[in-house]
Amino acid sequence: MALLEVRNIEKHFGSTKVLEDISFSLEQGKALAIIGSSGSGKTTLLRCLNFLETPDSGLITVRGEKLFDAENKASFSEEAIRQKRLHFGLVFQSFNLFPQYTALENVTLAGKLREKDKNRWPEIEKQGLELLDRMGLADRAGHYPHQLSGGQQQRVAIARALALHPDVLCFDEPTSALDPELTGEVLKVIRSLAEQDTTMIIVTHEMAFARDVADEVIFMDGGLIVEQGSARQVIENPKEERTRQFLSRY
Ligand SMILES: Nc1ncnc2c1ncn2[C@@H]1O[C@H](COP(=O)(O)OP(=O)(O)O)[C@@H](O)[C@H]1O
Ligand SMILES: [Mg+2]
Repeated sequence: MALLEVRNIEKHFGSTKVLEDISFSLEQGKALAIIGSSGSGKTTLLRCLNFLETPDSGLITVRGEKLFDAENKASFSEEAIRQKRLHFGLVFQSFNLFPQYTALENVTLAGKLREKDKNRWPEIEKQGLELLDRMGLADRAGHYPHQLSGGQQQRVAIARALALHPDVLCFDEPTSALDPELTGEVLKVIRSLAEQDTTMIIVTHEMAFARDVADEVIFMDGGLIVEQGSARQVIENPKEERTRQFLSRY
């Protein structure tokens, strides 16, 4: 059984159909890259997985547990959605760190909010420091976001997403807001997460990175999955004309 199953997701904004019949599955420990032009629905798909948008139809299952079922929306209380959301971590293009908190506080905040027993907070802080260390930021724990480069801020955001131990870590164009020289340090961290078999969905315009790091690639256009397959096949040897056209721009 796949870790994540997405079946027939559809989403409209008003009369505009933004996602149409999106279905895919993701095995534990695999990385899926989603590529496609601006406006093709990639962010909306990630937002649906993270319960920031509600699909109009379809089914989302993690480890066999039905997280979203359009046939049965009424049963989803706020608290239930908070719990379901914990299955996914989301790293945004624009980092979205809390400016008034240090790197370590950004990483540990959500864990502390969930843990009422303050005696366990030192353990949360220890884990936070370990995560920052994995991101190469052991010496930046006490720095505020404005004291960090964009690449460092994005690595803090990745540590923060990992801190809640999500089943699937989602990235929405994690390097698009970065200067080229800072892109590499963030891609390196994502690559090492892939090597450690972190289950991931990565929306990216870095085609060489997608080919080398992802196991599977989905190409989206106009809210549809046009092509999906192994990373090497889709990027080096696409079957669909629309995929070829898109890739020829890179
Ligand atoms: N909240 C919203 N309300 C209305 N239209 C939206 C909203 N969010 C996204 N869209 C539209 O949905 C389409 C897909 O957007 P998006 O998922 O952001 O694409 P991508 O991430 O691939 O660039 C676009 O046409 C966009 O304008
Ligand atoms: Mg987007």
